[in-house]
This record gives sequence, structure tokens and C-alpha cells, in this order.
Amino acid sequence: MAIFGKDEQKQTAPDRERLPRHVAIIMDGNGRWAQKRGMPRTFGHKAGVEALRGIIRHSSDLGIEALTIYAFSTENWKRSVEEVGALMGLLLEYFTRELDELHRERVCIRILGDIDAMPKGLEKQQAALRAAMERTKDNTGLRLNIALNYGGRQEIVRAAQTLARRACAGELSPEDITMDVFADALYTRGMPEVDLVIRTSGEMRLSNFLLYQCAYAEFYVTDVLWPDFDCDAYDEALAAYAKRNRRFGGVQ
Ligand code: FPP
Repeated sequence: MAIFGKDEQKQTAPDRERLPRHVAIIMDGNGRWAQKRGMPRTFGHKAGVEALRGIIRHSSDLGIEALTIYAFSTENWKRSVEEVGALMGLLLEYFTRELDELHRERVCIRILGDIDAMPKGLEKQQAALRAAMERTKDNTGLRLNIALNYGGRQEIVRAAQTLARRACAGELSPEDITMDVFADALYTRGMPEVDLVIRTSGEMRLSNFLLYQCAYAEFYVTDVLWPDFDCDAYDEALAAYAKRNRRFGGVQ
């Protein structure tokens, strides 16, 4: 099945005038989805990848500028060896299987997170991630950011270190460090601010995701487990976003 193409049988078409420019998704609930079916957690992650394919396609079809997904946090290494292994296997399979089509559809892939610090034994994954970024870097379609070995606090500390180094080298003075300069030192450099954060499976947490970038983001939490999050569920989230009154700290 092609991952791109127009969706059929759409129930509620999102209001294209009020679409978020940047959507960030915490894809939660794979494990529970699998357990409900008496299956191992890894079965849920496999189904989660299928859900992800649909959401990427739909984002691209709608003309959403940037989509950031939380694939693997710096804390996720604490999971069992089997689960981490399965997730890393899925990741490699994803980049091997989908890259041609993503590239054809002009998707620009960026990995947010520390690829270099991934544990030994994941050299193939590291190479695939770097190759995906390199191959798609000039694409002008959907900007797909995959947060992997990612932590929001770590990202902020890393940006502070980068700027401190530049200051020590005499390239900038502390007063030069504005919000724009700081944002440029984050993994999301050049991306629009996050407008909408979607979290599946009902949990109401940010879980160290895009802490700086979500300053004025709208939150949407659904009880739907990630593998069941389809285009209709996504459209519902987008419709809820379209109704929000965003004030950015002002009064309206
Ligand atoms: C959270 O569900 C999900 C994850 C930690 C992994 C999400 C990853 C994928 C959907 C696939 C990998 C991505 C790519 C790009 C191939 P959970 O396991 O915490 O679920 P639970 O809360 O029900 O236990």
C-alpha cells in the first residue's frame, strides 16, 4: 500500500484556514494496545509504526508544515533489552522500507536527539538516520522531525553549552543571546513554533518533550491508544485546535 495519496471516506475535513503549522505528537499507548490483545508489547510498537505511516501521509496531504514525533526518549533505554531491540529493529526497517517514498513525496527528515550517543551495536541505525537526513535535506515538503534519543532538558542544556562555547570563543557576548539566538541552537532550528501537541492514551504529561518549543502550544489529549490513532482521530484533534482561542499571554 502506498503511504501517500488522498484519503478516501473522510468524515470531517479539517478547516485548512486554521491548521497548525507545526504538530508534535507523543505516540503513547502501544504497550497497552498490545496487552489488551494478549500480545507482547512489541506487537503494539509494530502496529504503532503503521499508525504513524497514516499520520505522516495525512499531514503531508493537508499541507501541514512540520510534524514532530516522539519516537524514543533518552529515558526509553531503561526498557527491557527485548523491547529496546525491537524498537531499534523497527526503526531500521522503517528507514529502509519507507525512505524512497518519503523522498519522492519531498518529505524533509530531521532527527532531533543525540545520534552519536546511541549505544554500541546500533551503527546500522545511526548510519540509516544520517543517510535519511542527508538524502532529504533539500526537500521542500512536510518537515518530519523524529525525536530519537531525545530529551527536552538535554536539548536545552546542549544549546546552553553551544552558546557558552561561542561566547568563550569571543563569537558573541551574553547580551547577544536572545530568544531567537537560543532557538537557533536547538535541534528544531528553523522550524515554526509548535502549535499543537497531541498525546494519545489519555496521559496528561509532557514527558520531557520539546520543553522550550511548546511554550504557547495548544494541548490535545485523547484516550485513543496510538495504534488506533487514525486519520479521523487526527482530524478531530485538528478540529479541536481550529476552535481554540490562542492568546499568547494577551487578552482577546
Ligand atoms: C509509547 O508507548 C511509545 C513508544 C515509547 C515508542 C513509539 C515508537 C513507535 C510508534 C515506533 C517507532 C518509530 C519509528 C519512526 C519507526 P508505550 O510503549 O509507552 O505504551 P504504554 O504506555 O501503553 O506502555
